Amino acid sequence: MSKPNETAVQRRWDWHYPLVARAEGIYLWDTEGKRYIDGSGGSSVATSVGHGVKEIPEAMARQAQDYSFYPAHAFSNPKLLELADLIASIAPGTLRHNCKTWMTVTGSEATDDAARLARQYWVVKGKTQKHIIIGRWQAFHGDNIFAVSMSGLSSRRRIYTSMFRDMPKVAPCFCYRCYFEKTYPECNLLCARVLEDAICQAGPENVAAFIAEPVVGSALAAGPAVDGYFQVIRQICDKYDVLFIADEVMTALGRTGKMWGIEHWGVTPDIIALSKSLTCGYYPVAAVVARNDIWETLRAANAHFRAGHTLNASVIGMAAAIETIKYILKHNLVENARVVGAYFLEQLQSLRAYRPIGDVRGKGMMVGFEFVADKVTKAPFPPEKEISRLFSELTFERGLITYPCAGTVRGVAGDTILMAPPLITTKEQIDEIMVILHDSMRAFEQIASG
Ligand SMILES: Cc1ncc(COP(=O)(O)O)c(C=O)c1O
Repeated sequence: MSKPNETAVQRRWDWHYPLVARAEGIYLWDTEGKRYIDGSGGSSVATSVGHGVKEIPEAMARQAQDYSFYPAHAFSNPKLLELADLIASIAPGTLRHNCKTWMTVTGSEATDDAARLARQYWVVKGKTQKHIIIGRWQAFHGDNIFAVSMSGLSSRRRIYTSMFRDMPKVAPCFCYRCYFEKTYPECNLLCARVLEDAICQAGPENVAAFIAEPVVGSALAAGPAVDGYFQVIRQICDKYDVLFIADEVMTALGRTGKMWGIEHWGVTPDIIALSKSLTCGYYPVAAVVARNDIWETLRAANAHFRAGHTLNASVIGMAAAIETIKYILKHNLVENARVVGAYFLEQLQSLRAYRPIGDVRGKGMMVGFEFVADKVTKAPFPPEKEISRLFSELTFERGLITYPCAGTVRGVAGDTILMAPPLITTKEQIDEIMVILHDSMRAFEQIASG
């Protein structure tokens, strides 16, 4: 056992953190030699290519030997240009070869910068009132203060709301707990159509953008929108001159079985924020991709993008991202995510047989399930019981890392588990994961009924 540490602040005070000794493929080992399956892609979806991919650190090391930092106010670097070209060549829909990319460091900065870009674009176009970014409840766009104001995950925002100007929210697209108590498709996509009310209520002249995750990550544990949802969103945004920002921090680059999550709906966003799979945790890199004419509007006015951090477009990060995307393409990981992800979702359905499981959902290799105290009424467990954490501890003891989430019910209650193993995972490894999930579920039922 590792010694207790008194100087490092970690995420929780009440958890004894084992130390990682090494990692390879879908597995990690701690310093005691215990092996864990990385069932949540690092901490929620980061390690798509898996652990220990030599090509990525080798590319980073080669770059670091040449130079590892450059003064970005005065120089560019070839890796930045190569990466932007590479992203343009795989961008979704009408963004393909018709976009430019701004590089930053974390997913929270990417969504923040996406919102800044929307704002600056309208200011430069003379529509200076446009400043509101409409978001959704049960959405997570990051942890910096503005990202929190756009996010709708109450447990992570409540203590901060007095510190920022809150942004309006509409209902999520979440059939299991439909805000309007309707059923798809008879609902006629009311959850999408309410965006029009929200825009008109705020005044279209004040609304800069709408932001949404194609498949909601930690706030809904892999909650995909239904077919038709984003098509309606796109039409409403176009009608009122509102930019559509797709937060693809979790979903981009293959996670959902398509290169981009939004491709499942066949619409093109104006701006995309991405991060996690861009470097899969080998180095922190994030990006904002936007249509050429948005950036060209700024360029024509010589309006420099008012954002940026010291380590933006870090050259080591650029080298890592290029190698990561090449790896995803070379090893057909998007297709593997589609095929093995579908198999995973099918196997997960067996969890519905357990008393506390109310729903199983997902897209590609991004899946989740939800606990309920009562299957019929869908009543959640009391949040203070921290049911998802308890379950996650049971899988962890058995050598499987799962990601516990909560908040599907009014942002606080509603326990869920998000699972997003690396995109290299095989069907046999999914079977291995399922054995541990069933074993943990049996143990959980005993504890829950005791
Ligand atoms: C959809 C989404 N957007 C933004 C973020 C923020 O990314 P980061 O944690 O890298 O700041 C996350 C993180 O989990 C996310 O899931």
